[in-house]
Amino acid sequence: MDIYSNRLQAVHQAMVTWGLDTLILTPGAAMRYLTGFSEEGFERLLCLVVPDDRPCVFITPSLNAEQVRHNPAGVNDIREWGDAEGWEKTLRELSSQLDLDIGIVGIDEGMSARFLLRIQEILSTTLFKTSEPVFTECRIQKDAGELASLQHASEITDRAIAAAVSSCSEGKTEKEVALAINNAIALSGASTSFETIVSSGPNSALPHHTPGSRKLRTGDIVNLDFGARFDGYCGDITRVVSIGEPSQAASEIYDIVFRAHQAAKAAAYPGATTHSVDSAARAVITEAGYGEFFIHRTGHGIGLDDHEQPNIVSGSYQKLLPGMCFSIEPGIYLPGKFGIRLENIYTITNEGCRSFNQEIPAKLTTAEGSVD
Ligand code: CO
Ligand code: CO
Repeated sequence: MDIYSNRLQAVHQAMVTWGLDTLILTPGAAMRYLTGFSEEGFERLLCLVVPDDRPCVFITPSLNAEQVRHNPAGVNDIREWGDAEGWEKTLRELSSQLDLDIGIVGIDEGMSARFLLRIQEILSTTLFKTSEPVFTECRIQKDAGELASLQHASEITDRAIAAAVSSCSEGKTEKEVALAINNAIALSGASTSFETIVSSGPNSALPHHTPGSRKLRTGDIVNLDFGARFDGYCGDITRVVSIGEPSQAASEIYDIVFRAHQAAKAAAYPGATTHSVDSAARAVITEAGYGEFFIHRTGHGIGLDDHEQPNIVSGSYQKLLPGMCFSIEPGIYLPGKFGIRLENIYTITNEGCRSFNQEIPAKLTTAEGSVD
């Protein structure tokens, strides 16, 4: 059996466990996982319908039909609709064929309200639930092929570090640095996993800052958070650069975050919980007196989605098992001053965990500032 038949079989079993009769999936990780298909329908409904006991069906706008016909899983029941008639009739026909109106339908959480509200109107007696638990169950432990794709994505990501660091210099804007990173990734034949983050000076205290027109200055701390996506699988790292010699405060915070990262890594092994990994990082930062400035979870799962299960978060007692993949990314954010986050992604092995990325430097990387 090929990879997609195996995945469909696993999804069918999980649908029974979670009480779902049919899935309706719009473009995203779940559709890609089941079919290898990764094109978008944008404002037109393009979806995969997964019944529990018969072959899958694609509903597609005519303008995407040729692409859908080449879906890697070989799904060959393809229902086209044209702009003039809309997709509603196609869905109604399929519904009466599959008895969707008396069943429980699982949908992907990324489905646009534009589609869901209309589908709910059409299938007015159907019960809708999230399909997330089905895909978490099937996707949380990666197989050898998936681990190889994550490794490849991470190698491309790591190769972009040099371009990222060398583009950090006095006078460059955050946007220009982000562009240099994105170019390096594109030239390696990959796309980005998510919007590249370059946050400088006081902006570095904002974990999800969007790169803007601020120019880098001597004395700045710059966080660089980016990832390459290869074959659908996401890379994700954060490295930190000081423009000119770092202040003592910045060096100290870097050291604390570095030690928190190492502590979390040491706590990640089969049988440990997501809570205990988070606690290991948090304990180091709290003990150093910065607990209140570590304002997010320690990490997130990664795979076809840049954020998926398992989350490395306090209060979550998910047991870590071989093949699970996630980031470790503790950070300290001092409002109005600067922030530092250090991130690599890991997979649980039979003995412990293995980084997909190169080691994080133990000392803050210095880029050339202005000479006084
Ligand atoms: Co991350
Ligand atoms: Co990141």
